[in-house]
Amino acid sequence: MKTEIVKIDPAHVEDYKSELERAAEIIRGGGLVAFPTETVYGLGGNALDKTAAEKIYRAKGRPSDNPLIAHVARVEDFEKYCEIENREAFDAISSHFIPGPITVIQKKKSFIPTTVTAGLDTLAVRFPVHTVARALIEASGVPIAAPSANTSGRPSPTRVEHVIEDLDSKVDMIIDGGECSVGVESTIIHIAGKCPRLLRPGAVTLEMLRGVLGEVVVDKAVTEKLSQGEVPLAPGMKYRHYAPTAPVIALKGSERAVVDYMRAVAADEKCALLLFDEDLEFIQKNERTLTLGKREDREEHARRLFDLLRTFDKMNIDKIYTRVPDDDDIGLAVVNRLLKACGYTVVDPEKI
Ligand code: TXA
Ligand code: MG
Repeated sequence: MKTEIVKIDPAHVEDYKSELERAAEIIRGGGLVAFPTETVYGLGGNALDKTAAEKIYRAKGRPSDNPLIAHVARVEDFEKYCEIENREAFDAISSHFIPGPITVIQKKKSFIPTTVTAGLDTLAVRFPVHTVARALIEASGVPIAAPSANTSGRPSPTRVEHVIEDLDSKVDMIIDGGECSVGVESTIIHIAGKCPRLLRPGAVTLEMLRGVLGEVVVDKAVTEKLSQGEVPLAPGMKYRHYAPTAPVIALKGSERAVVDYMRAVAADEKCALLLFDEDLEFIQKNERTLTLGKREDREEHARRLFDLLRTFDKMNIDKIYTRVPDDDDIGLAVVNRLLKACGYTVVDPEKI
């Protein structure tokens, strides 16, 4: 399949009516369009069309037990496709965080194809704030099912080059809207039960959610490796994910021990490092040392993480050692993705 690549400036979507109409026609016709959102790029198809959903799973090489998020461009659409059982929680979330980088899971209405929800009776819905995503959904006139636009198992795409790497010739169109501003996928919150439950951390942080909802339970899969056979509420959380080809080892221990260990590792040509800007005072920078940004700049860590993980794949290395950032605010999302990338292998250098 020939993939058309179309550039749209997110600051001037009104100048791209014909491009957006062409993209919308593809969606309505059952085809696939990759598009930018504020979190990561999505791989979109009509969420009301079972065949389009099947095409999405195929293009990504995604297991069909991992459901898709339906993207909408109006708050009223949450109610159109889902039963709102916990009205108080929904209203609090929608008045504070929607549109934005948050996905809400509720009971689905029966006309939503079970292919989209991978057989679950719930549906994940998100209203992105990104101008291109909104314009595309509005022009299509249907909800757009969109997982992240990467090959299953690879880091999510935060730049159009990542999408092209993974999906060129597998989708009808890729919209280039520049770099994603958040860099990690949306927060997922499940509100079908009594107490809201955080299934995946993102830019709408646990602290922000607790500020408006009171109690929020953190699903075990956010911080811990599940044991064999254990099923997380968000099926996608069980897969080894975001993984570069070389194994990733996270270092956590006394500051001195971590820095000493990284300094030794930096000399090994077969090892790469993911560290903070400040570490470069002690560690000689080379082409295998990449930084997440300043230690305290958690938002920058989120923006850079997936691009850096993809950069490691272009190096001829056997191992990647990484710092573990602090896990407050959006740091929880960064740490969650890093833990998944390293299969939860966290090592104290003093115990090696
Ligand atoms: O930021 C994002 O959410 C991006 C952009 C494109 O919007 N999308 C994204 O989709 O990250 P995806 O498919 O890569 O991740 C969706 C996650 C998966 O872990 C999936 O298992 C979970 O959401 N999910 C979807 N529907 C669900 C449901 N009904 N119940 C529980 N988890 C669900
Ligand atoms: Mg994904």
